[in-house]
Amino acid sequence: MTEKAKPHGFVTRVIHWLAAGLLAFGYLKGLDNVSQLADPGLMQLEIFYALGLGALFAIRLIWTKTFAGATRLPSEAPAWEHRVSRAVHFGLYACVFGIVLSGLGIALAFSVPALSGFALSAMVFLHEAFLNLLPAFLLTHIAGALWHKIIRRDGVLESMTGTLGRPA
Ligand code: HEM
Ligand code: HEM
Repeated sequence: MTEKAKPHGFVTRVIHWLAAGLLAFGYLKGLDNVSQLADPGLMQLEIFYALGLGALFAIRLIWTKTFAGATRLPSEAPAWEHRVSRAVHFGLYACVFGIVLSGLGIALAFSVPALSGFALSAMVFLHEAFLNLLPAFLLTHIAGALWHKIIRRDGVLESMTGTLGRPA
């Protein structure tokens, strides 16, 4: 394959790596159990963080779909690469929105006594399910980036990282 992928723009790259950092923070700070939400400061931080992460991913989705373009996969790449890339990007977004919405669902169910039974347990279950699924999509995403770097050598990895000072 000879065509080199066109680089992603500055805004898409900043959002991509900022979102990666924010998600890593979320996994590092994860709560141990529901009773920790009795601390009002922690509850506020969780809600603020979830709204920020959700807004960043929503803005990013609109930005890439409407203005900047979601993928730099060369058009002549095999159909299976296009399919896997679309499926993995969809899975990444679905998991992040799932984590955010179930987190907000936990906050609501914890605060409303009538929801503190089944609804709260269901939201915690969903929260953990999405939290466990996201790393599988991320590993596939990173493996895909390395596939393009090592096997295809088509500049798709560099479209998001830049060439770090080396010639393209
Ligand atoms: C309103 C927002 C949120 C609330 C109220 C909330 C609440 C909770 C609660 C109660 C738990 C413990 C579940 C249990 O009992 O095992 C938990 C676990 C966790 N949450 Fe959230 N969460 C929120 C948003 C987020 C977001 C946006 C992330 C992003 C990554 C996140 C990451 C985690 C992680 C990594 C764990 C640990 C899971 C585990 O060890 O199994 N949370 N969360
Ligand atoms: C070492 C870590 C990572 C590497 C090497 C990496 C690499 C890349 C590359 C090369 C692209 C461009 C693909 C294309 O143009 O088709 C991309 C896009 C994308 N990446 Fe990552 N990525 C990493 C981490 C993450 C993380 C943590 C997320 C969080 C969910 C993520 C979500 C996405 C999404 C959704 C896209 C599609 C474009 C967009 O909507 O911004 N990536 N990534």
